[in-house]
Amino acid sequence: MSLPGYALITGGGGGIGSATGKIFAREGSAGVAFADINLETATTAAEESKKYATNPAYRAIAIHVDVSNEESVNAMVKQALGVFESLSYAVNSAGVSFTDQAGGIPKHSETNLGNLSTQEWERTMNINARGVFFSQRAEISAMLKAKPTNNYPANLSIVNISSIGGLRALAPYASAYVPSKHAVVGLTKSAAFEHGPDGIRVNAVCPAFIETPSNSGNAEVAERVNKRMERSALGRVGKPEEVGEVIAFLSSEKAKFVTAVDWAVDGGYTAA
Ligand SMILES: NC(=O)c1ccc[n+]([C@@H]2O[C@H](COP(=O)([O-])OP(=O)(O)OC[C@H]3O[C@@H](n4cnc5c(N)ncnc54)[C@H](O)[C@@H]3O)[C@@H](O)[C@H]2O)c1
Repeated sequence: MSLPGYALITGGGGGIGSATGKIFAREGSAGVAFADINLETATTAAEESKKYATNPAYRAIAIHVDVSNEESVNAMVKQALGVFESLSYAVNSAGVSFTDQAGGIPKHSETNLGNLSTQEWERTMNINARGVFFSQRAEISAMLKAKPTNNYPANLSIVNISSIGGLRALAPYASAYVPSKHAVVGLTKSAAFEHGPDGIRVNAVCPAFIETPSNSGNAEVAERVNKRMERSALGRVGKPEEVGEVIAFLSSEKAKFVTAVDWAVDGGYTAA
C-alpha cells in the first residue's frame, strides 16, 4: 500500500481525475473524494473506483464543486473532511482546455490573442488558475488542521495538473490556456516553499495531449492533437492512466524528497 491515507481529487469525474482515483484505490487508499462540477461523472468515477480498491475499509464519495467559486471549494473540503476526518493527498485536476467546446462561447477555440474575448480569458483563468488557488488554499488549511492519525505515516501531498502549456507556449488558440497553466506551476512552487516546513509536498504534472473526451470526442480536435504528438519522442497521444501513475508516485512516500517540481508527462514532447 503506497497511498494509505484519504484523497481528494478535483475534476474527479474527468479523464485524468477518474483514472487517478482508480489508481489511488488500487494503491490502498482509505478513501477518495471525487469532486467535480459534473456530479454525475464524479458519482460514476467514485462507484467504479470501488472495483479497484485493495484497502478493505475503502470509501469513495462524490462531491459537487465549482472550483472557480470560493465558497463552493471551501464547502467541498469541509464535506470531504466531514466524512474522512483527515486529508493526506489532494489532486487538483479540474480544468478547461483550449480544445474544450464547453463554456457556451462560440468558436472560442478558434480565437487567437488579437481576438480573444475577455469572457474567454476570465473563464479559463477562473477555472484553471483561481480554481487551483482556492483548492490548494483550502486543502492546505485542512491538512494543517486535521493531520492524519497514527494509522499510517504522515505523508501530505498536493499534485496540481498543469500542462506542457505551463512550461512553454502552445499555438494557436492557447493565449488564455497557456497563462493559466503557467500560473498553476507558479502556485505549485510557491506553496511547496511556504508549506515544506509543515511537511506538505506540492508538485505539478505537465501532461501533453492525453486521450480524454475533450480531445478524442471531436474528430477535428483529435486529428489536430494526433498530428501535434507525432513530433514527440514517443510519437503518440498519452493515456489518462499514464498521467495517473505519475501523480500516484508523486503523492506517495516513495517521492518523499520530491517537491516543487513541474514534471512533464509528455512522451518527450517538450524535449524537442
Ligand atoms: N487531456 C489533455 O490533453 C490534457 C493535457 C494537459 C493538461 N490537461 C489538464 O488535465 C486536467 C484534467 O483534464 P482531463 O484531461 O481529465 O479533461 P476532462 O475534461 O476529462 O476533465 C476535466 C474535469 O474538470 C471538470 N471541471 C471543469 N470545470 C470545472 C469547475 N469549474 N469546477 C469543478 N470541476 C470542473 C470537468 O467537469 C471535468 O470532469 C485539466 O486541468 C486539464 O487542463 C489535460
